[in-house]
Amino acid sequence: MARSNPLSLGRDLAIDLGTANTLIYARGTGIVLDEPSVVAINVNDGRPVAVGVEAKRMMGRTPNHIKAIRPLKDGVIADFEVCEKMLRYFIQKVHASKWSKPRMIICVPSGITGVEQRAVQDAAEYAGARKPVHIIEEPMAAAIGADLPVHEPSGNMVVDIGGGTTEVAVISLGGIVTAQSVRVAGDELDDAILQYVKKEYSLAIGDRTAEEIKIQMGSAWPMEEELTADIRGRDLVSGLPRTIQLTTEHVREALAEPVSAIVDAVKTTLDKTPPELAADIMEDGIMLTGGGALMGGLDQRLAHETGMPIRVAEEPLYSVVIGSGRALENIDAMRGLMSLGGDD
Ligand SMILES: Nc1ncnc2c1ncn2[C@@H]1O[C@H](COP(=O)(O)OP(=O)(O)OP(=O)(O)O)[C@@H](O)[C@H]1O
Ligand SMILES: [Mg+2]
Repeated sequence: MARSNPLSLGRDLAIDLGTANTLIYARGTGIVLDEPSVVAINVNDGRPVAVGVEAKRMMGRTPNHIKAIRPLKDGVIADFEVCEKMLRYFIQKVHASKWSKPRMIICVPSGITGVEQRAVQDAAEYAGARKPVHIIEEPMAAAIGADLPVHEPSGNMVVDIGGGTTEVAVISLGGIVTAQSVRVAGDELDDAILQYVKKEYSLAIGDRTAEEIKIQMGSAWPMEEELTADIRGRDLVSGLPRTIQLTTEHVREALAEPVSAIVDAVKTTLDKTPPELAADIMEDGIMLTGGGALMGGLDQRLAHETGMPIRVAEEPLYSVVIGSGRALENIDAMRGLMSLGGDD
Protein backbone atom coordinates (compact mmCIF):
# COMPACT_ATOMS: atom_id res chain seq x y z
CA MET A 1 0.00 0.00 0.00
CA ALA A 2 1.30 3.40 -0.89
CA ARG A 3 0.85 4.81 2.61
CA SER A 4 3.01 2.19 4.30
CA ASN A 5 5.93 3.04 2.09
CA PRO A 6 7.86 5.75 3.98
CA LEU A 7 9.32 7.08 0.75
CA SER A 8 5.88 7.99 -0.49
CA LEU A 9 4.79 9.74 2.69
CA GLY A 10 3.89 13.34 2.10
CA ARG A 11 3.91 12.93 -1.62
CA ASP A 12 0.22 13.61 -2.02
CA LEU A 13 -0.76 17.15 -1.27
CA ALA A 14 -3.99 19.07 -0.71
CA ILE A 15 -3.71 22.79 -1.36
CA ASP A 16 -5.95 25.64 -0.26
CA LEU A 17 -4.84 28.26 -2.78
CA GLY A 18 -6.53 31.25 -1.16
CA THR A 19 -6.62 34.92 -2.08
CA ALA A 20 -5.02 35.81 1.25
CA ASN A 21 -3.30 32.60 2.38
CA THR A 22 -2.04 29.37 0.86
CA LEU A 23 -2.07 26.26 3.02
CA ILE A 24 -0.78 22.79 2.20
CA TYR A 25 -1.72 19.48 3.77
CA ALA A 26 0.53 16.47 3.16
CA ARG A 27 -1.04 13.04 3.19
CA GLY A 28 -0.22 11.15 6.36
CA THR A 29 1.33 14.22 8.00
CA GLY A 30 -1.15 17.12 8.24
CA ILE A 31 -0.73 20.84 7.60
CA VAL A 32 2.84 21.49 6.46
CA LEU A 33 2.61 25.04 5.11
CA ASP A 34 0.64 28.17 5.97
CA GLU A 35 1.83 31.34 4.24
CA PRO A 36 0.34 34.52 2.79
CA SER A 37 -0.30 34.35 -0.99
CA VAL A 38 2.21 37.09 -1.76
CA VAL A 39 5.28 37.20 -3.99
CA ALA A 40 7.87 39.98 -4.11
CA ILE A 41 9.21 40.26 -7.65
CA ASN A 42 12.31 42.01 -8.93
CA VAL A 43 10.82 43.95 -11.83
CA ASN A 44 14.14 44.05 -13.69
CA ASP A 45 14.44 40.31 -14.22
CA GLY A 46 11.02 39.01 -13.13
CA ARG A 47 12.55 36.80 -10.44
CA PRO A 48 10.89 36.37 -7.05
CA VAL A 49 13.00 37.87 -4.25
CA ALA A 50 10.67 36.65 -1.49
CA VAL A 51 7.55 34.52 -1.22
CA GLY A 52 4.95 34.13 1.53
CA VAL A 53 5.46 35.63 5.00
CA GLU A 54 8.61 37.47 3.98
CA ALA A 55 6.96 38.95 0.88
CA LYS A 56 3.91 40.09 2.84
CA ARG A 57 6.17 41.93 5.26
CA MET A 58 7.49 43.91 2.28
CA MET A 59 4.02 45.02 1.08
CA GLY A 60 3.82 48.80 0.88
CA ARG A 61 7.49 49.08 1.81
CA THR A 62 9.28 48.15 -1.43
CA PRO A 63 11.82 50.21 -3.41
CA ASN A 64 11.08 50.87 -7.09
CA HIS A 65 12.67 47.72 -8.46
CA ILE A 66 10.70 45.36 -6.21
CA LYS A 67 6.98 44.82 -6.42
CA ALA A 68 4.96 42.83 -3.88
CA ILE A 69 2.25 41.03 -5.83
CA ARG A 70 -0.80 39.10 -4.67
CA PRO A 71 -1.37 36.76 -7.64
CA LEU A 72 -4.97 35.93 -6.65
CA LYS A 73 -7.89 38.27 -6.55
CA ASP A 74 -11.49 37.45 -5.63
CA GLY A 75 -10.58 33.78 -5.22
CA VAL A 76 -9.22 33.34 -8.73
CA ILE A 77 -5.86 33.73 -10.41
CA ALA A 78 -5.22 37.30 -11.50
CA ASP A 79 -1.53 36.91 -12.42
CA PHE A 80 -0.91 33.43 -13.80
CA GLU A 81 2.87 33.61 -14.11
CA VAL A 82 3.41 34.87 -10.58
CA CYS A 83 0.87 32.39 -9.20
CA GLU A 84 2.70 29.50 -10.81
CA LYS A 85 6.02 30.73 -9.36
CA MET A 86 4.48 30.99 -5.93
CA LEU A 87 2.95 27.51 -6.10
CA ARG A 88 6.22 26.03 -7.34
CA TYR A 89 8.09 27.61 -4.44
CA PHE A 90 5.58 26.36 -1.85
CA ILE A 91 5.42 22.86 -3.32
CA GLN A 92 9.21 22.58 -3.40
CA LYS A 93 9.32 23.71 0.21
CA VAL A 94 7.23 20.74 1.36
CA HIS A 95 7.99 18.16 -1.31
CA ALA A 96 11.71 17.71 -1.60
CA SER A 97 11.77 14.79 -4.04
CA LYS A 98 12.85 15.75 -7.52
CA TRP A 99 11.97 12.32 -8.88
CA SER A 100 8.25 12.13 -8.33
CA LYS A 101 5.38 14.45 -8.97
CA PRO A 102 2.91 14.70 -6.08
CA ARG A 103 -0.73 13.80 -6.56
CA MET A 104 -2.73 16.88 -5.77
CA ILE A 105 -6.13 18.13 -4.69
CA ILE A 106 -6.61 21.85 -4.96
CA CYS A 107 -9.66 23.80 -3.95
CA VAL A 108 -11.44 26.52 -5.88
CA PRO A 109 -14.39 28.84 -5.13
CA SER A 110 -17.78 27.39 -6.06
CA GLY A 111 -18.65 30.17 -8.47
CA ILE A 112 -15.68 29.98 -10.82
CA THR A 113 -15.83 29.48 -14.56
CA GLY A 114 -14.35 26.54 -16.45
CA VAL A 115 -11.57 28.76 -17.73
CA GLU A 116 -10.71 29.97 -14.23
CA GLN A 117 -10.67 26.39 -12.95
CA ARG A 118 -8.47 25.25 -15.83
CA ALA A 119 -6.02 28.06 -14.97
CA VAL A 120 -5.71 26.76 -11.40
CA GLN A 121 -5.07 23.23 -12.65
CA ASP A 122 -2.54 24.42 -15.22
CA ALA A 123 -0.71 26.47 -12.60
CA ALA A 124 -0.52 23.42 -10.31
CA GLU A 125 0.67 21.20 -13.16
CA TYR A 126 3.32 23.66 -14.30
CA ALA A 127 4.39 23.96 -10.67
CA GLY A 128 4.99 20.21 -10.48
CA ALA A 129 1.71 18.40 -9.74
CA ARG A 130 0.96 15.04 -11.27
CA LYS A 131 -1.79 15.10 -13.88
CA PRO A 132 -4.71 15.25 -13.50
CA VAL A 133 -5.07 17.70 -10.64
CA HIS A 134 -8.20 17.00 -8.60
CA ILE A 135 -10.51 19.87 -7.78
CA ILE A 136 -12.69 20.29 -4.71
CA GLU A 137 -15.06 23.18 -4.19
CA GLU A 138 -14.14 25.45 -1.31
CA PRO A 139 -17.45 25.30 0.59
CA MET A 140 -17.44 21.49 0.41
CA ALA A 141 -13.88 21.40 1.77
CA ALA A 142 -14.81 23.95 4.45
CA ALA A 143 -17.81 21.87 5.54
CA ILE A 144 -15.76 18.66 5.75
CA GLY A 145 -13.01 20.49 7.65
CA ALA A 146 -15.55 21.89 10.10
CA ASP A 147 -16.79 18.35 10.82
CA LEU A 148 -20.23 18.79 9.28
CA PRO A 149 -21.89 15.48 8.35
CA VAL A 150 -21.85 16.23 4.61
CA HIS A 151 -22.82 12.71 3.57
CA GLU A 152 -26.00 12.59 5.66
CA PRO A 153 -29.39 13.34 4.11
CA SER A 154 -29.64 16.58 6.09
CA GLY A 155 -29.07 20.24 5.36
CA ASN A 156 -25.64 21.55 6.34
CA MET A 157 -25.02 25.23 5.84
CA VAL A 158 -21.51 26.62 5.69
CA VAL A 159 -20.37 30.22 5.23
CA ASP A 160 -16.68 30.57 4.35
CA ILE A 161 -15.46 34.16 4.54
CA GLY A 162 -11.98 34.38 3.06
CA GLY A 163 -9.90 37.23 1.71
CA GLY A 164 -11.46 37.38 -1.75
CA THR A 165 -14.78 35.57 -1.64
CA THR A 166 -17.56 34.67 0.73
CA GLU A 167 -18.95 31.26 -0.12
CA VAL A 168 -22.33 30.27 1.19
CA ALA A 169 -23.52 26.73 0.55
CA VAL A 170 -26.07 24.20 1.66
CA ILE A 171 -24.78 20.63 1.45
CA SER A 172 -26.68 17.36 1.71
CA LEU A 173 -25.84 13.78 0.70
CA GLY A 174 -22.31 14.71 -0.33
CA GLY A 175 -23.37 17.38 -2.80
CA ILE A 176 -23.93 21.11 -2.92
CA VAL A 177 -27.68 21.77 -3.08
CA THR A 178 -27.51 25.52 -3.37
CA ALA A 179 -24.56 27.88 -3.24
CA GLN A 180 -23.64 31.46 -3.67
CA SER A 181 -20.21 32.97 -4.03
CA VAL A 182 -19.89 36.72 -3.62
CA ARG A 183 -16.72 38.66 -4.17
CA VAL A 184 -17.02 40.52 -0.89
CA ALA A 185 -14.76 39.28 1.90
CA GLY A 186 -11.65 40.30 3.86
CA ASP A 187 -10.09 42.45 1.12
CA GLU A 188 -13.27 44.48 0.71
CA LEU A 189 -13.45 44.98 4.45
CA ASP A 190 -9.85 46.27 4.46
CA ASP A 191 -10.63 48.59 1.58
CA ALA A 192 -13.73 49.93 3.34
CA ILE A 193 -11.56 50.92 6.34
CA LEU A 194 -8.97 52.53 4.08
CA GLN A 195 -11.64 54.57 2.29
CA TYR A 196 -13.36 55.57 5.51
CA VAL A 197 -10.15 56.90 7.08
CA LYS A 198 -9.37 58.74 3.87
CA LYS A 199 -12.80 60.34 3.63
CA GLU A 200 -13.46 61.13 7.29
CA TYR A 201 -9.92 62.06 8.38
CA SER A 202 -8.06 62.88 5.12
CA LEU A 203 -5.53 60.30 6.19
CA ALA A 204 -3.87 57.82 3.84
CA ILE A 205 -3.09 54.41 5.33
CA GLY A 206 -1.64 51.28 3.72
CA ASP A 207 -3.41 47.98 3.03
CA ARG A 208 -1.56 46.26 5.85
CA THR A 209 -2.58 48.91 8.38
CA ALA A 210 -6.19 48.65 7.22
CA GLU A 211 -6.09 44.86 7.69
CA GLU A 212 -4.51 45.28 11.11
CA ILE A 213 -7.29 47.69 12.16
CA LYS A 214 -9.91 45.20 10.93
CA ILE A 215 -8.36 42.30 12.84
CA GLN A 216 -7.78 44.26 16.05
CA MET A 217 -10.90 46.43 16.05
CA GLY A 218 -13.39 45.16 13.48
CA SER A 219 -16.85 44.07 14.59
CA ALA A 220 -20.29 43.43 13.18
CA TRP A 221 -22.26 43.91 16.40
CA PRO A 222 -21.91 46.31 19.37
CA MET A 223 -19.08 45.17 21.64
CA GLU A 224 -19.21 44.74 25.39
CA GLU A 225 -16.40 47.22 25.66
CA GLU A 226 -15.77 49.66 22.82
CA LEU A 227 -12.08 50.49 22.30
CA THR A 228 -10.04 53.39 20.95
CA ALA A 229 -6.70 53.14 19.15
CA ASP A 230 -4.12 55.49 17.65
CA ILE A 231 -3.77 55.09 13.90
CA ARG A 232 -0.82 56.46 11.98
CA GLY A 233 -0.79 57.46 8.35
CA ARG A 234 0.02 60.29 5.99
CA ASP A 235 -2.05 63.44 6.01
CA LEU A 236 -3.47 63.94 2.54
CA VAL A 237 -3.38 67.72 2.83
CA SER A 238 -0.02 68.43 4.43
CA GLY A 239 1.67 65.26 3.22
CA LEU A 240 3.12 64.73 6.68
CA PRO A 241 2.74 61.76 9.03
CA ARG A 242 -0.21 62.18 11.41
CA THR A 243 -1.95 60.18 14.14
CA ILE A 244 -5.71 59.94 14.57
CA GLN A 245 -7.87 58.24 17.15
CA LEU A 246 -10.27 55.62 15.91
CA THR A 247 -12.93 53.88 17.98
CA THR A 248 -14.43 50.45 17.40
CA GLU A 249 -17.73 52.23 16.65
CA HIS A 250 -16.03 54.09 13.79
CA VAL A 251 -14.62 50.85 12.42
CA ARG A 252 -18.04 49.21 12.60
CA GLU A 253 -19.48 52.13 10.67
CA ALA A 254 -16.70 51.80 8.08
CA LEU A 255 -17.43 48.09 7.67
CA ALA A 256 -21.22 48.43 7.55
CA GLU A 257 -21.63 48.10 3.80
CA PRO A 258 -19.50 45.03 3.06
CA VAL A 259 -20.73 43.32 6.24
CA SER A 260 -24.32 43.85 5.05
CA ALA A 261 -23.41 42.35 1.68
CA ILE A 262 -22.12 39.22 3.46
CA VAL A 263 -25.26 39.02 5.59
CA ASP A 264 -27.42 39.40 2.46
CA ALA A 265 -25.60 36.55 0.72
CA VAL A 266 -26.50 34.29 3.66
CA LYS A 267 -30.11 35.44 3.61
CA THR A 268 -30.59 34.92 -0.14
CA THR A 269 -29.09 31.43 0.07
CA LEU A 270 -31.47 30.57 2.91
CA ASP A 271 -34.25 31.89 0.75
CA LYS A 272 -33.32 29.43 -2.02
CA THR A 273 -32.99 26.43 0.30
CA PRO A 274 -35.62 23.68 -0.04
CA PRO A 275 -37.93 23.61 3.03
CA GLU A 276 -36.82 20.24 4.47
CA LEU A 277 -33.20 21.35 4.42
CA ALA A 278 -34.11 24.77 5.83
CA ALA A 279 -35.72 22.99 8.77
CA ASP A 280 -32.46 21.06 9.36
CA ILE A 281 -30.48 24.28 9.32
CA MET A 282 -32.87 25.79 11.83
CA GLU A 283 -31.99 22.84 14.08
CA ASP A 284 -28.23 22.52 13.47
CA GLY A 285 -27.37 26.08 12.66
CA ILE A 286 -24.97 27.75 10.27
CA MET A 287 -21.23 27.03 10.42
CA LEU A 288 -18.81 29.92 9.85
CA THR A 289 -15.31 29.25 8.48
CA GLY A 290 -12.49 31.27 6.87
CA GLY A 291 -10.55 34.14 8.43
CA GLY A 292 -13.59 36.43 8.31
CA ALA A 293 -15.40 34.12 10.75
CA LEU A 294 -13.06 35.54 13.41
CA MET A 295 -14.56 39.00 13.19
CA GLY A 296 -16.05 40.07 16.49
CA GLY A 297 -19.82 39.85 16.74
CA LEU A 298 -20.38 38.43 13.25
CA ASP A 299 -22.07 35.41 14.81
CA GLN A 300 -24.40 37.66 16.83
CA ARG A 301 -25.19 39.77 13.80
CA LEU A 302 -26.04 36.73 11.66
CA ALA A 303 -28.08 35.15 14.45
CA HIS A 304 -30.01 38.39 14.80
CA GLU A 305 -30.66 38.77 11.07
CA THR A 306 -31.47 35.15 10.19
CA GLY A 307 -32.87 33.76 13.44
CA MET A 308 -30.63 30.69 12.98
CA PRO A 309 -28.15 29.36 15.52
CA ILE A 310 -24.60 30.29 14.42
CA ARG A 311 -21.43 28.32 15.12
CA VAL A 312 -17.84 29.29 14.38
CA ALA A 313 -15.47 26.49 13.32
CA GLU A 314 -12.79 25.64 15.85
CA GLU A 315 -9.96 26.82 13.60
CA PRO A 316 -11.70 28.73 10.84
CA LEU A 317 -8.48 29.58 8.95
CA TYR A 318 -7.73 25.85 8.64
CA SER A 319 -11.18 24.43 7.81
CA VAL A 320 -10.69 24.39 4.04
CA VAL A 321 -7.23 22.84 4.07
CA ILE A 322 -8.24 20.27 6.69
CA GLY A 323 -11.31 19.36 4.63
CA SER A 324 -9.23 19.09 1.45
CA GLY A 325 -6.73 17.00 3.40
CA ARG A 326 -9.47 14.64 4.54
CA ALA A 327 -10.61 14.27 0.95
CA LEU A 328 -7.00 13.43 0.07
CA GLU A 329 -6.70 10.81 2.82
CA ASN A 330 -9.83 9.10 1.51
CA ILE A 331 -9.31 9.97 -2.10
CA ASP A 332 -11.15 6.94 -3.43
CA ALA A 333 -14.17 7.20 -1.15
CA MET A 334 -14.36 10.95 -1.69
CA ARG A 335 -14.09 10.84 -5.45
CA GLY A 336 -17.73 11.80 -5.79
CA LEU A 337 -17.04 15.11 -4.07
CA MET A 338 -14.30 16.09 -6.47
CA SER A 339 -13.98 16.69 -10.14
CA LEU A 340 -11.15 15.78 -12.42
CA GLY A 341 -10.15 18.65 -14.52
CA GLY A 342 -9.89 18.89 -18.23
CA ASP A 343 -9.73 16.16 -20.73
CA ASP A 344 -7.06 13.88 -19.35
N1 LIG B 1 -9.57 38.17 13.60
C1 LIG B 1 -9.95 38.47 12.35
N2 LIG B 1 -11.01 39.28 12.12
C2 LIG B 1 -11.39 39.59 10.88
N3 LIG B 1 -10.79 39.15 9.77
C3 LIG B 1 -9.73 38.35 9.93
C4 LIG B 1 -9.25 37.95 11.20
N4 LIG B 1 -8.17 37.14 11.03
C5 LIG B 1 -7.99 37.03 9.71
N5 LIG B 1 -8.91 37.75 9.03
C6 LIG B 1 -9.03 37.93 7.58
O1 LIG B 1 -9.31 36.71 6.96
C7 LIG B 1 -8.86 36.77 5.61
C8 LIG B 1 -8.07 35.53 5.28
O2 LIG B 1 -8.88 34.42 5.46
P1 LIG B 1 -8.63 33.06 4.66
O3 LIG B 1 -7.24 32.62 4.85
O4 LIG B 1 -9.73 32.15 5.04
O5 LIG B 1 -8.81 33.60 3.16
P2 LIG B 1 -8.38 32.87 1.81
O6 LIG B 1 -8.77 31.45 1.89
O7 LIG B 1 -6.97 33.16 1.51
O8 LIG B 1 -9.28 33.66 0.73
P3 LIG B 1 -10.36 33.09 -0.32
O9 LIG B 1 -10.95 31.86 0.27
O10 LIG B 1 -11.35 34.19 -0.45
O11 LIG B 1 -9.61 32.88 -1.58
C9 LIG B 1 -8.01 38.02 5.48
O12 LIG B 1 -8.74 39.03 4.81
C10 LIG B 1 -7.76 38.39 6.92
O13 LIG B 1 -7.58 39.78 7.08
MG1 LIG C 1 -10.38 30.35 1.44
